[in-house]
Amino acid sequence: MMKKTVNDLDAVRHSARFIREKVCNVQAGTLGLVLGSGLGAVRERITAHVDLPYAEIPGLPQSTVEGHGGFLRAGLLGGQPVVALCGRVHLYEGYTAAEACLNVRILAELGVRTLMLTNAAGALNPLFSAGTLMCITDHINFSGQSPLTGPNCDAWGPRFPDLSQVWCPRLLALAASQARRLGLVLERGVYIQVAGPNLETPAETRAYRRLGADAIGMSTAIEAIAAAHMGLRVLGISCLTNKNLPDCMARTSHQEVLEMAGKASADMALLLEAVAGALPGLDSAGVDSAGLNPAR
Ligand code: HPA
Repeated sequence: MMKKTVNDLDAVRHSARFIREKVCNVQAGTLGLVLGSGLGAVRERITAHVDLPYAEIPGLPQSTVEGHGGFLRAGLLGGQPVVALCGRVHLYEGYTAAEACLNVRILAELGVRTLMLTNAAGALNPLFSAGTLMCITDHINFSGQSPLTGPNCDAWGPRFPDLSQVWCPRLLALAASQARRLGLVLERGVYIQVAGPNLETPAETRAYRRLGADAIGMSTAIEAIAAAHMGLRVLGISCLTNKNLPDCMARTSHQEVLEMAGKASADMALLLEAVAGALPGLDSAGVDSAGLNPAR
């Protein structure tokens, strides 16, 4: 008999049904948002909201890390319906990649087609400053795990999904234009996910930079894989909390990461609100909103 895994359609649909019953304003086409470490200011921009603690949601793993709030907030961002997951779980907490990506699976089952992923990350590109934002153009999954390991759920997506365009170029362009309009610095670059929880040695930092990464963190790439598997279009914004440079390696603490994320989260909030508000314009401007990821 086929082994049951957390890639369990029934369990995820049960979670989605529960959320829909508790939060009445989840409609198809709602924007999904995953908020990473210290990015509290973003959730404060969500108006007319209803909150649901993760502890109440069946099937959603609990985050155990300081700075990860651990609740779902449904409301409006930039006037658009949004479901925000405030806090995520990580591989280093002992979760498998499939478990860590149940957040994305549940959002998609709720009807989310556009997903904004955020995180705190170290800047590997020496030209990038701590405290600025970076739009993810591509990723390297260096975590050693994939959310697709195990039996494939055909209702979600194919066994061997194409990843040639995980990060939606139209959303990237929209984020860049909104950042310009707001006068915010928005770098663009490749995000590498490592398993953590330890930070990197100088030799590792040098290696990751040579692999082509501009920013490094412990989440997000696996979520983007799960989202791509389900045909979602994805925007990723990293908050660069520290410079991670091999030849002038500074000590970095989780506290410092949270503090810097807190400072930059006001900019992140402005940007995401503007992007959310501009999405209807993007979708009415010709190409079908799902046109880049036709799998779903
Ligand atoms: N490395 C890995 N993860 C991180 C970092 C870093 O320098 N900063 C924030 N998250």
